[in-house]
Amino acid sequence: MDTASLNQYFSIEGHLHFETGRGGLTKAVVNNTYALCELYLQGAHIVSFKPHNREELLWVSSTAQYASGKAIRGGVPLCWPWFGPDPENAGRPQHGFARNALWTFVDASVNQRGETVLKLVLHKSSESYKVWPFTFEAEYSIIVGNSLRLELSTKNRDSTPFTLTQALHTYFAVDAIEQSRVENYVGKRYIDKLLENRECVQEGDLRFEDEVDRIYLDEDLYCILSDSRRSVKVSKQNSKSTVIWNPWREKASSMGDFDDEGYRNMVCIETANAAFDARILNPGECHTLVQTIEVWL
Ligand code: BG6
Repeated sequence: MDTASLNQYFSIEGHLHFETGRGGLTKAVVNNTYALCELYLQGAHIVSFKPHNREELLWVSSTAQYASGKAIRGGVPLCWPWFGPDPENAGRPQHGFARNALWTFVDASVNQRGETVLKLVLHKSSESYKVWPFTFEAEYSIIVGNSLRLELSTKNRDSTPFTLTQALHTYFAVDAIEQSRVENYVGKRYIDKLLENRECVQEGDLRFEDEVDRIYLDEDLYCILSDSRRSVKVSKQNSKSTVIWNPWREKASSMGDFDDEGYRNMVCIETANAAFDARILNPGECHTLVQTIEVWL
């Protein structure tokens, strides 16, 4: 559907309109009494969440690419239906195909609190079947209020079970990485991907002085990301794993779409079902991963 048709069917005065964004890609723009939120239909990729009178919560690389079939570096890419490298080692893309696929916008409404609710779906297609031979339905609900609530539901519409790993790969903006910390993980176990997946235990708040790439094994826990100006709360449901990532200087500069100094102003906190937290969905089953982000202080 083109931008004019999307506006005709789904725009809501005082809440939602569609426009052509960077690279000619279609973008949904929510601007309600609570916040501004922008999302590309490609990848159902949120690139901005800014509650009014607050600073932007999300980070996007200044060298991010906006092009058909390419994931945007920053915001909230969807890693789905697998997290990380191809689990079958068959040369399929890292983090699955949902972040590069064109999602279908199916509904927009306003709830009782005056928040804007968007729904997008992704179904099996001939393209998806080539890389992941299952019949599925993914539905992504985005609720824009004082907080940003994301609900990613996966339904198995196939006659065989499938394994799902996934992440809401959220890039948070921080004002200075060395002064930033993640709280509420003291004593929690994590897998350190930089130490050959060794299992470690968190001592003190997580601070950033070098590259970090970890999967925290937690139970529907929340965490708080604080920098020198604010604290952001990240809470979740149906997830027992959280990925925390900062590539630091060298890795960032090896990535063409990651601005060299950008690592100073971002931290990824990714609500996930990853590693030991993979889910098997039997035919007819549905699993919903939920993440809510809000300014806490
Ligand atoms: C994180 C992983 O989730 O995503 C990292 O833990 C990875 O290992 C990072 O480098 C970025 O992945 P990509 O595919 O977007 O470059």
